Amino acid sequence: MSRKQNIIASAIKANIIDDNLTVVGVMDLDGLQKTVADAYAAFPENFFHTFAVKANALVNVLKPLREYGMGAEVASPGELMIAQSAGFEAKDIIFDSPAKTISDLRTCIKHNISLNVDNLQELERIDHLIKEFPNTKSVIGFRINPQIGSGKIASTSTATATSKFGFALADGNNRQQLINIYKDRPWLQSIHTHTGSQGCELTLMAHGVKVITELAEEINTFIGHQQIVRLDIGGGLPVNFTSEEVTPSFQEYADILKATVPLIFTKKYQVKTEFGRAIAAKNGVIITRVEYTKNSGGRHIATTHAGAQVLTRTAFLPKSWPLRVTGYLPCGEERTIDNSELVATDVAGPCCFAGDLICVNQLLPKLTVNDYVMVHDTGGYYFSNHFDYNSLPRVGVYAVSGPDDALKIDCIRKADTVEDVLSKM
Ligand SMILES: Cc1ncc(COP(=O)(O)O)c(C=O)c1O
Repeated sequence: MSRKQNIIASAIKANIIDDNLTVVGVMDLDGLQKTVADAYAAFPENFFHTFAVKANALVNVLKPLREYGMGAEVASPGELMIAQSAGFEAKDIIFDSPAKTISDLRTCIKHNISLNVDNLQELERIDHLIKEFPNTKSVIGFRINPQIGSGKIASTSTATATSKFGFALADGNNRQQLINIYKDRPWLQSIHTHTGSQGCELTLMAHGVKVITELAEEINTFIGHQQIVRLDIGGGLPVNFTSEEVTPSFQEYADILKATVPLIFTKKYQVKTEFGRAIAAKNGVIITRVEYTKNSGGRHIATTHAGAQVLTRTAFLPKSWPLRVTGYLPCGEERTIDNSELVATDVAGPCCFAGDLICVNQLLPKLTVNDYVMVHDTGGYYFSNHFDYNSLPRVGVYAVSGPDDALKIDCIRKADTVEDVLSKM
């Protein structure tokens, strides 16, 4: 039996899918450990790999990742607290977010958590905080947008000319301005870029790394000594969603990086990565149950319980995020052409909109009521989505009523703090 058949068999044996729990996400911790080992094996010792917590913000996934040797890259106060709950030490956390509040910044600087500055206004806030905490051990870098172009998916491309992330390096006089910024601030010791995620070619990612490495060299030369000691090169290694094959591998990326920017493979800089999807995606699956089937206009439709609530990207942007599914009989045997006829199938989710589909018009062995459906490669950014209803810190809901000139506003759902959300997890 394959690993995945064993996973289905143990889920059925343990009776974990029933009328109340109709969707489960399963993470394979052995797979995760091997993936982290592959990442470490591909790069030399001056590389430290942090996990992009947004890809899987579950304490019980983060704890093992920490034990396997990863740090944590967090991009919101919620992720920061989740990482702290998972036991990551301040020195192993890096905080990236384009919308850090003064209190987020103070928390980081006071507690020696490293961070990347997104823009000049944020820099001004940090200037004040550094005066308050002059002995902070936070390693602070500037996030650079190298403006080198887009990958295949616009919404995951962060190095476009007009990207919302980072300091636009190629605009106007920005390069020289940045060099002066570093010269005036000896505490700016790192530099950061993240060219994009799924859909970006390895060559584009490597180009982004080359731009910040050359910039770091230029800044250090201008200052007259090596002030920048760390290069944070982001995540973004894409994942193959079309088969079980792990491609591209960490080794392929390392080879391209080495050919493009050999300097980062010497010990001159500490290099941090922030891989998310490449660590988590292929080590997780969603298992759900077929509640009903029907035929509409010649299409076999299998309605399951996994839809936009756990497969958000796929439901809303199906062309960018296609997923593979496999059907299983209620006893756990895989549906194949040997035990079922092939039919054009839509596997649907439970949400009340027509686009709530896991896959459309796929020739699949015919699914029937009470079958199980496994949705592959969903260990990152799917069932662990930190944007979901369980974890919306700082979002309150208000109602207004009355005449325009005397509107009454009432809170109808109090905003949870991050601490409130964590205490419910
Ligand atoms: C700054 C930063 N680092 C790392 C990541 C992780 O990207 P991926 O999951 O594609 O590796 C992201 C993704 O949005 C990001 O914005």
